[in-house]
Formats: sequence, C-alpha cells, structure tokens
Amino acid sequence: MSTKKDESVDNDKRKLLKLFGLSAGALALGSLSAERFFVPESRNQPVLTSYPRAILVDPEDNPILASQIPYANESTSSYPIMVFNYPLQDEPNILVRLRGITIPGGVGPNSDITAYSGICQHLGCIAPLLRYNPAQNIPFEAKLIGYTPENWPPYGLIYCKCHGSQYDPTKGHDNLYNSGPAPSPANHSLPQVTLEYDAATDRIYATGMNPLNAVIRTHLWQPNGETYGSEVQEENLSGGTALTLYQGNTSLYKTTVVTSSNGPWPGNY
Ligand code: FES
Repeated sequence: MSTKKDESVDNDKRKLLKLFGLSAGALALGSLSAERFFVPESRNQPVLTSYPRAILVDPEDNPILASQIPYANESTSSYPIMVFNYPLQDEPNILVRLRGITIPGGVGPNSDITAYSGICQHLGCIAPLLRYNPAQNIPFEAKLIGYTPENWPPYGLIYCKCHGSQYDPTKGHDNLYNSGPAPSPANHSLPQVTLEYDAATDRIYATGMNPLNAVIRTHLWQPNGETYGSEVQEENLSGGTALTLYQGNTSLYKTTVVTSSNGPWPGNY
C-alpha cells in the first residue's frame, strides 16, 4: 500500500528527473543500461578546453553561502538532496556538509563542505537514487542487505538504491565503502568536485574535478572508458553542454544548486 511518505519521495524523484531532463522511463531502465542516457551524441566533441570556474547559486542567481548549507550528519530524517551540475550541464553532483568532520578536499571555515558526483560509478544511476543518508535514515534497500542502526556509520553514507553501492562522504576522493554487511558493486569512488571557498564573501566556487580520482562515468569520450591520471583532465570535457556564464561575466560560469526540500534556500524547480 502506498503511503504519504512514499508519495513525497516519488515527488522528489520526479522533480529531480525533470531538472535533468530525464523521463520516468529513463529511470526505470537506468539500472539496465544507464549510460546510454548520459552519453550525449556529441561525446567526442570537446565543449570546453579546461574546467570552468563556476559560482554556486540558488534558483534566483543569489550566491550560495557556505554558512547556509545544513549539516548532513545532523539531519534526523531525509537530508535535503542538494544537487548542482558540473562541469557540464548534464552532470549532477551532490553537495554535502558534515559537522565535526574535516573532509579531504573539503572547503569552508572547517573544511567540512564537499561535493561528489551524483552519478553512481557502478552503472550510472543518478541522484536521488544515489543520495546521502544520515544514520537516522537508513534506506529500506540497505536494510535488505543487512544494514541496521548499529552498523550504519554514524556520519552516514552515500548509498545507491539501484544495486547497493556505498560511498563514505568523509573520505574525499577515496570514498568507495566496503566495510558494511555487503560489498559495493562499484569498483570506483565517486569523483570529487574541487571546490574553492572565498572567506571574505562566504561564497563557493566549483573549479574542477579532483585529479586523484578518475571520472569513470560520464564526460569521458571513450565509451566504457576507464582512464586514470592526467588523461582524465583532457577527456572530461568532451560531449554535453557547457554551463552558462554568470551575470554578464566572460569567464565566470554559474551552477544552480537545487534542493529536494524548501530549505535552506528556495527549491523552486
Ligand atoms: S548503479 Fe549500480 S549500484 Fe549504483
């Protein structure tokens, strides 16, 4: 029997899928052959020659302030899914802030803010199927593979509902998690977005992808490509569509952070 909570979750999924231009049908087929939906026909055509510098903004173009971002590990139920596209328009990433955790590659006054690709590195399922879950909100699917409140990490996990891949949000680029009751089917960590924090304005910018971790899914020109090291940098920006420039700037782009809830900034998508 469907519940109100189920309907609310479904609404979240619909909103995010609409954002990324995907249909419910694409979602249903995602676990079978997800990559075909994320690989644009222009895959072999570079759209930018280097990573764009992009300011994180809300849907009204106001810069997101680091101090506005809620703490993930303190949420008692479903953490608001905060997603922004980077480095190209069709590439979602999950924004996470963890109180009390210094995250490798994290930014902000306490280095506790980071962003990971919202595309699962197993077969490419995207947020909200891939999402952060605090200790107080273990996904039903994770319980089926043996997770309990006793063995779910207290700082939460990024969990993919498609086939159970798990990622540790506290670890930065080296985030693949295999310490739970069932191993992750993915072989690779989630790519980490390189963020920059401007202490004077409290603003956050995306400036690249962490070169310490290969981007296995999306923005690779090689189908099924698994390329490491310096080659990742030159392959990342092939295919897809560039972000848009921010308020008349000639080199500063913008990426809009949308949420699955009404806060901390308007989530009017
Ligand atoms: S796509 Fe298979 S676990 Fe995420």
